[in-house]
Amino acid sequence: MIARGVMLGPDQPVIMHLLDILPAAEALDAVRMELVDAAFPLLKGVVATTDAMEACSGVNIAILVGGYRRKEGMERKDVLSKNVSVYKDQASALEQYAAADCKVLVVANPANTNALILKEFAPSIPAKNITCLTRLDHNRALGQIAKRLNIHVNCVKNVIIWGNHSSTQYPDVNHAIVTTQAGEKAVKDLISDTKWLNEEFITIVQQRGAAVIKARGQSSALSAASAVCDHIHDWILGTPKGSWVSMGVCSDGSYGIHAGLIYSFPVTCRKGEWSIVQGLQIDDFSRAKMDATAKELVEEKSSAYACLEVK
Ligand code: LMR
Repeated sequence: MIARGVMLGPDQPVIMHLLDILPAAEALDAVRMELVDAAFPLLKGVVATTDAMEACSGVNIAILVGGYRRKEGMERKDVLSKNVSVYKDQASALEQYAAADCKVLVVANPANTNALILKEFAPSIPAKNITCLTRLDHNRALGQIAKRLNIHVNCVKNVIIWGNHSSTQYPDVNHAIVTTQAGEKAVKDLISDTKWLNEEFITIVQQRGAAVIKARGQSSALSAASAVCDHIHDWILGTPKGSWVSMGVCSDGSYGIHAGLIYSFPVTCRKGEWSIVQGLQIDDFSRAKMDATAKELVEEKSSAYACLEVK
């Protein structure tokens, strides 16, 4: 997708740096060979390496997908202790060798807390350049609303994922809009079944990652890769007028969320900078759910630090 221009547009050449661990070196080389063999017009070079310094040298965009993966029956916190030390090391490699304006997207779980560790151990990278993926959840929410209304997913916009990329995330449709031939309508006016909206819809989106793992024995791949491209595309090239997306970003205290946490907010992007959408009305139902997912992130942060101290 990256080499085809899905992520950065059809006019942007790319040089891809691929990093993997030593036992995967041969498989990584096969990926390099296939990238060359695909003769992508936009692909101007491939660096495939097991050396973090070489991989991070001069990169403008870092997408961190590496980490121990969650298997069926595991909760995200089960992989936390393994992954936070990986992210501490990745932080120092990026800090030392990446381009000064490098933009970082953390995908591997626990994504928000890995991003937080990366932010704290790579202090020279601006905090606004470190994000985590909740676009997958955002897209899942759009998909579920479209399915329920039997319309195309492209007609739905402005759902919000608040908080953690975990089962405590809060998929919020209070501000979501459907574009019809007659103009724009609120999702809440089109779906009168509030029990479905307040219960089933939320649970489906929260549990979708686990459902995919259960169905195929591994976590999502295609939808995650596509959401990564969407996240970077919109961050760099901008969000369409009148619509927002969800990104895990460093909280500035907006909506009463503890400053410094990496929390998913509704954002608009312009000229490579994201801004949290301000002024949305938050009712008591939403407030409780936003606070619950923030509380989990505060707990994950202290567990992460406890793991790093033990090491
Ligand atoms: C997903 O949402 O599909 C993944 O984050 C699930 C996982 O834990 O790997």
